[in-house]
Amino acid sequence: MHIEIINGPNLNLLGVREPAIYGHSSFEPFLASLRERYGDIEIGYYQSNSEGALIDRIQEVGFTAAGIVLNAGAYTHTSVALHDAIRAVTSPVIEVHISNVHQREEFRRHSMISPACAGVICGFGLDSYRLAIEAIKGMQEHD
Ligand code: DQA
Repeated sequence: MHIEIINGPNLNLLGVREPAIYGHSSFEPFLASLRERYGDIEIGYYQSNSEGALIDRIQEVGFTAAGIVLNAGAYTHTSVALHDAIRAVTSPVIEVHISNVHQREEFRRHSMISPACAGVICGFGLDSYRLAIEAIKGMQEHD
C-alpha cells in the first residue's frame, strides 16, 4: 500500500517556524518514526512551497496511491486550483493541519479544499498525519 504525504508552503520550516503553534520538531524525524511504525506501508513524502508543484504531485500519485495526506498550509484557505486537483484524482485525499485552525484567526476557518477531501483532521500536532494514515487504512479495509 502506498500513501503519499504532501506538505505545502512553509512546512519545510517545521521546528523553526512559530514553535509555540507548530512544535519544536522538524518533519523528517517524525516521518522516519511513521515509516518505522507502518513498515508494511510505503509512505512517500513531498514538500513544496509552490502551488503548481503541489498540483503536479497530486496528479502524479493521485491515480495509484491508496490515499494522500495533504497539509496544504496557507493554500488551504485560498486555492481553487488545489480543490480542482483533489477532485480530479481518484485517490482519497485527507486534509490535515497540525494546529486547530478553528481556534485561530478567522481567515483560517475557511478551507477551499475541505469539500473536495474525504475528511479533515486538525489540531493534534504532528499526530494529525498519523491519524490520517489510520483513516486511509480504515477506508481500505472497508473497500
Ligand atoms: C496549517 C494551518 C494553516 O492555516 C497555515 O497556513 C499553515 C499550517 C497547520 O498545519 O496547522 O501553514 O496548515
